Amino acid sequence: MTTSVTIDSVTKRFGDSTAVDNVSFDIAQGEFFTLLGSSGCGKTTLLRMVAGFLRQTSGHICFGGKIIDDVPPHQRNTGMVFQNYAIFPHLTVFDNIAYGLRARRRSKAEIDREVKHMLELVQLGHLAHRRPRELSGGQQQRVVLARAMVIKPDVLLMDEPLSNLDTEMRIHLRSEIRSLQRQVGITTIYVTHDQEEALLMSDRIAVMSRGRVEQLDVPHKIYAEPQTLFVARFIGENNLLSGTVIGREADGSSVIELPGGHRIRGAGGFDEAGSPCQISIRPQDIDLAHSGDAPQNTIGGTVTDIQFLGGTVKLLVEIGAEQPLQVSLQGRRGMEMPTPGSRLKLDIPLKAVRTFKAEASA
Ligand SMILES: Nc1ncnc2c1ncn2[C@@H]1O[C@H](COP(=O)(O)OP(=O)(O)OP(=O)(O)O)[C@@H](O)[C@H]1O
Ligand SMILES: [Mg+2]
Repeated sequence: MTTSVTIDSVTKRFGDSTAVDNVSFDIAQGEFFTLLGSSGCGKTTLLRMVAGFLRQTSGHICFGGKIIDDVPPHQRNTGMVFQNYAIFPHLTVFDNIAYGLRARRRSKAEIDREVKHMLELVQLGHLAHRRPRELSGGQQQRVVLARAMVIKPDVLLMDEPLSNLDTEMRIHLRSEIRSLQRQVGITTIYVTHDQEEALLMSDRIAVMSRGRVEQLDVPHKIYAEPQTLFVARFIGENNLLSGTVIGREADGSSVIELPGGHRIRGAGGFDEAGSPCQISIRPQDIDLAHSGDAPQNTIGGTVTDIQFLGGTVKLLVEIGAEQPLQVSLQGRRGMEMPTPGSRLKLDIPLKAVRTFKAEASA
């Protein structure tokens, strides 16, 4: 039976270095949960602790509310798909997938039925008698996936399972893995450093940095409402500008002054007048100011660069701050195309302006 997973104050140290630093979260039964972060942030270490290959220095791991710290890996009933997948080269596709069931001494009839069902799910029925060397990389990866899922694991653990494949196969398998996971309903922990993959596939994402969870949320919140400067930098494109907090207006918005004197208002933010801050604004949240709108933040600037990409038009607009603003406009029929050197007014909604405390060594 698929299960929930609890990570409770888990820390892992190797000598003096802390690979996973006091991490806690709950994963619901059937959830597709992704650990996203750059190289060395502790994703694999955390996954290996869930599998039982590594013992945490402190904290607990629970399956279905039961602490499993002392349960050895082979009794945790996890299915594993790792980056350097190994399928047995001398076995056929069928026998590779049947391997886990034979090790569990299932009956021949059951093995036959379950393997055939999995073969159908991963669309390899017609290749059941091939050997791995006669398969493409994507087909081999589907064998690994089928082999991990056929034992009906409580939890499926996947560590960068697509990173060895070419772009086309990666994009194809992303949606295949996701729809397979939905059909079977297995609780899944998926590790990747690819933000697009994480946003597309996950129910929820934990963005990790230096062993800690920076933000845990559903994909669109991670994208639209980064809670830390790290997440704002890491996910998608953002204009990052430093400024100084001026104060708060009656409507609760905070006022920030940018170098060069522009004042910009952001929803939320913080109060301490005079303190240095950083703001992030997504290029596609900035629009041209039109007469008749009620603008929330109007900033004048000079266009220095234009890239016409058909559906999108990308502009660089010099506003006299530390760097020009990147602006990404929807290319609409009949839109007036700015030209380099032209002056224009931009409008930035309050909610598009995210405010963060300036980092000491940013
Ligand atoms: N067995 C070990 N002994 C000592 N340090 C280790 C060990 N395993 C991992 N580390 C260190 O722990 C940190 C986290 O490593 P981990 O493999 O979890 O990173 P990751 O997020 O999976 O990175 P990647 O995206 O490169 O796979 C790294 O600094 C790594 O050097
Ligand atoms: Mg890793």
